[in-house]
Amino acid sequence: MKTTITAIKADIGSIGGHIKPSQRVLDSVIGYVEQHQQGLLIDYKISFTGDDIAILCTHNKGVGNPDIHGLAWEAFKTGTEVAKDQGLYGAGQDLLKDAFSGNIKGMGPAVAEMEFEERPNEPFLFFAADKTDPGAYNLALYLAFADPMFCSGLILSPGMFKGFRFDIMDVSYTEADRVISLNAPEELYDIAALLRDPERFVIEGIYSRETGEQAVSVSTTRLRNIAGKYTGKDDPIMLVRVQGAFPATGEVLAPYSIAPYVAGFMRGSHTGPFMPVKLNSTISFFDGPPVVSCAGYCVHEGKLTNPVDAFDHPFWDYIREKVSEKAIEIRRQGFFGSAMLPYSELEYGGIVKKLEELDSRFQIRE
Ligand code: F6R
Ligand code: MG
Ligand code: MG
Repeated sequence: MKTTITAIKADIGSIGGHIKPSQRVLDSVIGYVEQHQQGLLIDYKISFTGDDIAILCTHNKGVGNPDIHGLAWEAFKTGTEVAKDQGLYGAGQDLLKDAFSGNIKGMGPAVAEMEFEERPNEPFLFFAADKTDPGAYNLALYLAFADPMFCSGLILSPGMFKGFRFDIMDVSYTEADRVISLNAPEELYDIAALLRDPERFVIEGIYSRETGEQAVSVSTTRLRNIAGKYTGKDDPIMLVRVQGAFPATGEVLAPYSIAPYVAGFMRGSHTGPFMPVKLNSTISFFDGPPVVSCAGYCVHEGKLTNPVDAFDHPFWDYIREKVSEKAIEIRRQGFFGSAMLPYSELEYGGIVKKLEELDSRFQIRE
């Protein structure tokens, strides 16, 4: 029987600003899932990254299942009530619709899920990012799945010689999902040409061309497209199956040492380095920097092991120091130039109003 891994995350309120959820809120989400999972889930783990809570669960019901999505929706609703009761900031922030309509996609929470026939041993990684958006994963995925400079398996492991298929979504198209499939290595330059614009083109999935198996699923939600206005950054999650015909864990992790500048940070309107952090990390400097955590698991017949914290290692302490320097460096130029996002990506409406007011004061010189 096939196993499905579903990860769903939402910001339903946090302590002291957009920093971290309270223990009571976390406990209420855990409690709801525990009480209602009978007959639905095989296993689940609940964690947080910055102000976002993630429900990671396994089951046999396939992707996009209304009961599984409904369970997560109700758990987040329950948590929101507790968040309101405690006066937490941004209570229910990511629950953008009033009533659940069968699929949590398009309702605010981010979803990444995959259904597959388990290998005899099935390691996978669960990434959760805060204060950034789904395109933040573009570069690391490209390097791990298409560049032998980072993924030695592409030249050393025959199971990977055929390369990978990239499904890339145009997230600026709001009517429906608009997706292109491109093959690495033949179409590498086309892939790069799209991925260079992470606010518009986002990797949604990656598939082995040797086995056809799915390796990657990324949440591609754009909250602004749902709400029509700024409601918070999209804070993406991602599942990555590793080893064997897929890149090794270390090959998937290696590109995070680059910590590229990504969109997000303060008010979802700035550029900051993508810092790999330990599990259950909070947010601090300038409501950031943009962070990413990674939990490694194995799954067998749907049962999950305990997580291993992939970025909890002395190597990543060194990287974090370097990334802090990158963060301070770009913050030195404040609002100027590439430190703040372009007009089209600014997620607070205030500047639009300001520019409109100023516009009327411009005079054309004879
Ligand atoms: C970014 C984020 C924060 C808030 C900022 C202001 O995703 O959540 O940086 O944008 O703290 O928050 P508000 O507008 O809620 O006062
Ligand atoms: Mg928030
Ligand atoms: Mg968040």
